[in-house]
Amino acid sequence: MKPLLKQLLASTALLLAMGTMQAAEPVRIIPAVQEMTTADGALTLPGTPTIACPQELENEGNLLIQYLQADFGIRATKEGDDATISLRLDSGLSFPQEHGYTLDVSGKGVRIAANDATGIFYGIQTLRQLVTKADERCTLPYVAINDYPAYRWRAFMHDDARSFKGKDIVLGLLDEMARLKLNVFHWHLTDDQGWRIQIDKYPRLTEVGAWRDSTQLGGYRGITFDPHRHGGFYTKDDIRQVLDYAAARHILVIPEFEMPGHESAAIAAYPWLGTTGKEIKVPCTFGVQYEVMDITSPRVYKFIEDVLDEIIDLFPSPIIHIGGDEVKFDQWKASPRVQAYMKEHGITTPADLQVLFTNDISYILSRKGRRMMGWNDITGNKIHEYNDADDATARQKLAEGTIVQFWKGDLDLIEKTARQGYDIVNSYHYMTYLDYDYKQIPLRQAYDFSPIPEGLPKELEPRILGLGCQMWGEETLSDEWMYSRIFPRIAAYAEVGWTLPARKDYDSFLHSLEGLKNIWKKKGYQVGGE
Ligand code: ACM
Repeated sequence: MKPLLKQLLASTALLLAMGTMQAAEPVRIIPAVQEMTTADGALTLPGTPTIACPQELENEGNLLIQYLQADFGIRATKEGDDATISLRLDSGLSFPQEHGYTLDVSGKGVRIAANDATGIFYGIQTLRQLVTKADERCTLPYVAINDYPAYRWRAFMHDDARSFKGKDIVLGLLDEMARLKLNVFHWHLTDDQGWRIQIDKYPRLTEVGAWRDSTQLGGYRGITFDPHRHGGFYTKDDIRQVLDYAAARHILVIPEFEMPGHESAAIAAYPWLGTTGKEIKVPCTFGVQYEVMDITSPRVYKFIEDVLDEIIDLFPSPIIHIGGDEVKFDQWKASPRVQAYMKEHGITTPADLQVLFTNDISYILSRKGRRMMGWNDITGNKIHEYNDADDATARQKLAEGTIVQFWKGDLDLIEKTARQGYDIVNSYHYMTYLDYDYKQIPLRQAYDFSPIPEGLPKELEPRILGLGCQMWGEETLSDEWMYSRIFPRIAAYAEVGWTLPARKDYDSFLHSLEGLKNIWKKKGYQVGGE
């Protein structure tokens, strides 16, 4: 061996022995933080670390204690002086975006500060990823972090309607969202193949609408069926538990009640909701169905308002998602009643009928103090091949204040929508649909997604609230299948939403991801894309 190399190896061994290498190791945090400086040295946590936090941060302090126990087997306590970890609110702190925090690790301990509890919670998530456990010793590198989100909307959508998963799985998903600082849980609770939320005034929604006889396998192109009855729903108590769990983790839960399409399960329960009035069964097949509400019927409006009342009673979210996607206009066009209504009211296209209906719902919601959100189909532009351009282009303008979630459409449509003053969540399907396989959306492509589309004029950028990633449920009867598509891509979307583009680095992300993959595997989640 050359003397120089020998000398280098010897000095490396010495440094390792002194325990000073930790600071030189790249710090692994996902989503990557905005600013960080490191110093030589590491803090070793004592056997029973003490946590200092004010009364207002009781929830965050308790969660930190739970995390330290579950992640590292450390029993922390709030008793005693000389806190190892302190959580501190400081109204004087300011960040370029709300919910930022600072985190300092030094020989004196760990100090997390923020101007609100959400920022403190995010600091705690970073702290969890800073700890390394080796030989029963938990250490953290000396760092000074100043961190805040790039986007305020960082959503994960779970489709319980197509495959019902139940409360425990949802709570687990919320845990992983919290770990990644995702802050909106978009809960797709109703669709053609299942109605998943207890509504007291309309019990058949869950007695009938929550159950189907079998399930098409392999998505809408599949030719085989799982022969078992499938179904289930969330009671109001279940939902309250999920909401409490999410709120403690600073996650907003937005319920989605689809209308006027994706409605077969509700129509199976109450045929008078449908345009044809025919009795149907809850579909066992996927793909866009023809069933659509008769939105010219006062009884249907009353139903929607009643259901919204019960949803609003349960969900504190200021935003309610009304779906609005993929309405096939065939039944409206074939219905003499709907045609007569349109003529009487001077409504020229089915797309206008849908926009006017959607605006009525927006009005109902705003009277109840809530804001409407929907898929971008509700703007009344042609985005589907199955509707004629003439039918699908509305002259009516969507209600002001609506949040438009873009899943389809080109830059021109996003630009037009932003220019008209709507806030936008970007969920472009070719980039953010978690049910798409890794050939369609490789991890790298997910990581490179930009919620602000290339070419959008600078002055319209503030209209883009952030992104959603969506786990659709057509093929998620198997939990393993579902997890293998969520993990690890959800981490890439978390970094897209949190980390400023200039701070993103795919190689570092991959390096950091190894730690998270191990955590997920240990928890029993399938990790895909390998
Ligand atoms: C959608 O994928 N139909 C929103």
